[in-house]
Amino acid sequence: MSDLASQINKRRTFAIISHPDAGKTTLTEKFLLYGGQINLAGSVKGKATARHAVSDWMDIEKERGISVTSSVLQFEYDGFCINILDTPGHQDFSEDTYRTLMAADSAVMVIDGAKGVEPQTRKLFKVCGRRGIPIFTFINKMDRDARDTYDLVDEIEKELGIATCPVNWPIGSGKDFKGVYDRQTGEIVEFADTQKGTKEGTETRIRLDDVEASTAAIGEDAREQLLSEIELLDGASEEFDQEKVNNGKLSPVFFGSALTNFGVELFLEYFLKMTIPPLPREADAGLINPVENKFSAFVFKIQANMNKAHRDRVAFMRICSGKFEAGMDVYHVQGGKQVRLLQPQQMMADDRHVVKEAYAGDIIGVFDPGIYSIGDTICTPPDKFRYAGIPTFAPEHFARVRQVDTMKRKQFVKGIEQIAQEGAIQIFQESNYGMEEIIVGVVGELQFEVLQYRLQSEYNVEIILEKLPYEFIRWIKDVDTDLDSINGTSDMKKVRDLKGRPLLLFVNSWSIGMTLDRNDGLELEEYSEN
Ligand code: G4P
Repeated sequence: MSDLASQINKRRTFAIISHPDAGKTTLTEKFLLYGGQINLAGSVKGKATARHAVSDWMDIEKERGISVTSSVLQFEYDGFCINILDTPGHQDFSEDTYRTLMAADSAVMVIDGAKGVEPQTRKLFKVCGRRGIPIFTFINKMDRDARDTYDLVDEIEKELGIATCPVNWPIGSGKDFKGVYDRQTGEIVEFADTQKGTKEGTETRIRLDDVEASTAAIGEDAREQLLSEIELLDGASEEFDQEKVNNGKLSPVFFGSALTNFGVELFLEYFLKMTIPPLPREADAGLINPVENKFSAFVFKIQANMNKAHRDRVAFMRICSGKFEAGMDVYHVQGGKQVRLLQPQQMMADDRHVVKEAYAGDIIGVFDPGIYSIGDTICTPPDKFRYAGIPTFAPEHFARVRQVDTMKRKQFVKGIEQIAQEGAIQIFQESNYGMEEIIVGVVGELQFEVLQYRLQSEYNVEIILEKLPYEFIRWIKDVDTDLDSINGTSDMKKVRDLKGRPLLLFVNSWSIGMTLDRNDGLELEEYSEN
């Protein structure tokens, strides 16, 4: 295998998705531990500091009016080069969280064993599901009392609409948590709280068919129960099928406890075997092969104004093919120009550094003098293809925005259009109104504060935000539809986006159904693909 092919084939680029507090941060830390990036003692101590640092950074960013960085962590493990894409959760949940998923090849869904599927898991899953990428489930916090295992698995199947295949199976939970049964090897992996230990040699494996040893390890009752659960499972659950996993049709399920570091390495080892390296990606010129094609990438996120003194930005791009070398001349397809990617950076654990080379599967951040937009393609001349764009995701919060001083209309329009171009907010105009009053839509509510702050500090424009009750937005499929001709519900609003496409805003899902019923042939979409 050529060096390029082996570099690309060892890459595994994935996002971890979860509802806040399910254990995403803890699991990520444990992954880094196995990658040798941090030592465990340091991690426990470092965790508090890391958290602290995160919240400090948030305050600073908020003060500056910037959305929080979604970082990429790269580390090596067992011959693989792993890129973990962090998906901002908590208050900083935004459209960037969804866009990050466009740059991942697979996703790890962390679920709290006591809570099951939660709202944010559902939303993020939906985006992954649409892309058909492999989705792995890690059911966490088994050291605490968890819900019935069958119920949990059933809920994932029913609520998310994906088949599951438990790769291991928990033996009890909470105080009675004894470990997991590895269905592929027929071994019990005995639970031990390895939180304070080192990463080596703390997991004891015992064959379940060794009656004496396994009874001694987990007790007779637990063993009997496990045997009957396995029998049921073997009869009822889907068999492991790599093809289905690759297409996102079957989710391998694992159980563990990130906090006590139990089941994490077991998960990592299976996950790395079962997930995919960077695969060919669709572009207007056909499928682009990561190994055979020269360097190409697409922009999935723009981070504004990291340095307040300059209005500079960082464009994050996912490399889809070939090798990136610092200083190389590339072609920015949407800009129609040859450019050089300046100050390329990569995150290695918690350290940001300049990259000299990177490969398909990696994420780099480059200096953006204001030329890139989300979804843009960069290729190596003479190539000029474009990757399929990044969809516009439906905002979930809306507000009417007015400027206080109407004399500053120009700055207001400029500011708001620029911020929208970066992808932090979406703007809509009510039909028949100009830019005097506009409607802003965001995925996460923090973006309203960000908007207000940035308009004030960067454009010297004060605004008044009036929250609106809409929760659902739908693009009208036929963009030539005359908005006036639509016969909707009284609480519905007709608007257009920056590109002039017609949309409808609804207060509840009932109104959507009603509007569809009243307008023959009307087709509505939850996403806008271009
Ligand atoms: P998130 O990134 O998904 O939001 O979750 P995070 O890892 O921050 O974990 C949320 C809380 O759950 C933390 O507790 C964390 O220690 C705990 N936790 C994570 N994994 C496990 C697990 O396997 N078992 C148990 N029992 N707890 C787990 P916290 O009290 O909110 O924070 P901290 O004081 O521990 O830092």
